[in-house]
Amino acid sequence: MEKKIIYSGIQPTGLVTLGNYIGALQNWLKFQDDENYQCIYSIADLHSLTVRQVPAEFRNRALSFFAQYLACGLDPQKNIMYFQSHVHEHAELTWILNCITYIGEASRMTQFKEKSQKHPDNINMGLMDYPVLMAADILLYNTALVPVGVDQKQHLEIARDLAIRFNNAYSPTFTVPEPLISKVGAKIMSLQNPTAKMSKSDTNANATVSILDSEDDIMRKFKKAVTDSDNEIRFGEDKPGVSNLITIYASCKSISIDDAVKELQGLSYASLKEAVGASVAELLAPIKSRYNDFMNDKEQLLAIAKNGQEQASYIARKTLRKVYKKVGLVQL
Ligand code: TYM
Repeated sequence: MEKKIIYSGIQPTGLVTLGNYIGALQNWLKFQDDENYQCIYSIADLHSLTVRQVPAEFRNRALSFFAQYLACGLDPQKNIMYFQSHVHEHAELTWILNCITYIGEASRMTQFKEKSQKHPDNINMGLMDYPVLMAADILLYNTALVPVGVDQKQHLEIARDLAIRFNNAYSPTFTVPEPLISKVGAKIMSLQNPTAKMSKSDTNANATVSILDSEDDIMRKFKKAVTDSDNEIRFGEDKPGVSNLITIYASCKSISIDDAVKELQGLSYASLKEAVGASVAELLAPIKSRYNDFMNDKEQLLAIAKNGQEQASYIARKTLRKVYKKVGLVQL
């Protein structure tokens, strides 16, 4: 039986956060030992260029993100892991998809609207084209499933729409991908403002936890986490801060929300924050030491990336060749 393709990526902007870990990476790890799937994970570095980057810092950060993938336990023998910019077919398929994407649908994307509002001085073409590049990432590999956090759902919908539109205009070419969004932890909230998503680019250092934070930093951030004015430990829409802490605890311990509530019941808010902080610190501790080992061996890191690029290119090349033929470009 042919393996189903799972594809996902993270853009190397800011830090890999606890949100990225719980919403994405933790789910990716679940599939690497499953014979039914071939998993492909990229560092979506071209996506990061929609925001101005300092080149030397950007290069280091992209490598650091790759090392963090590995440190989290993603095995390059079991998954294809590579940098998006190393496979030029992503940019080429983006062009073809651009030509079947309507300005209206691209400009209606929530993330485009939010980012345009936040950076009115830099509303560049790339920002609007961002979901098309993401669609190209996914469609190049005939992806069946895309494990992401809930914030990427709309981008997945446009990827699906473009696949269907292309298939209808030419002939069946692309697999129509499905999002894979976990029930618990698909949207981890900011520790300082639990009605907003925990975001890589948050300027308030206490709002986000990096997966490389020290135990002291993690405990301090959770101690300062915003809760609410009563002292009840309950999961519900009216209790965003406490619910976020319960979700984080449940995800770190791999238990259900109900079981997490049972375990945490009766604690004061101070003890709740300490228990959640400790569960995060325990989960992240082994990642840090492995990370240092990978970062100290750049040669090995680049060798793994090269190997991933070769495997990814092989698949991408085949898809793009098919697409170029279908749209009527001259073949040599
Ligand atoms: P990015 O880099 O913003 O986020 C990477 C992944 O982490 C998830 N995530 C979260 N999950 C739960 N709670 C949070 N607070 C949280 N913050 C982020 C995101 O949903 C995502 O799964 N455009 C994408 C990267 C990308 C991609 C792709 C993803 C590029 N090409 C192809 C899938 C398939 C992005 O910016 O994600």
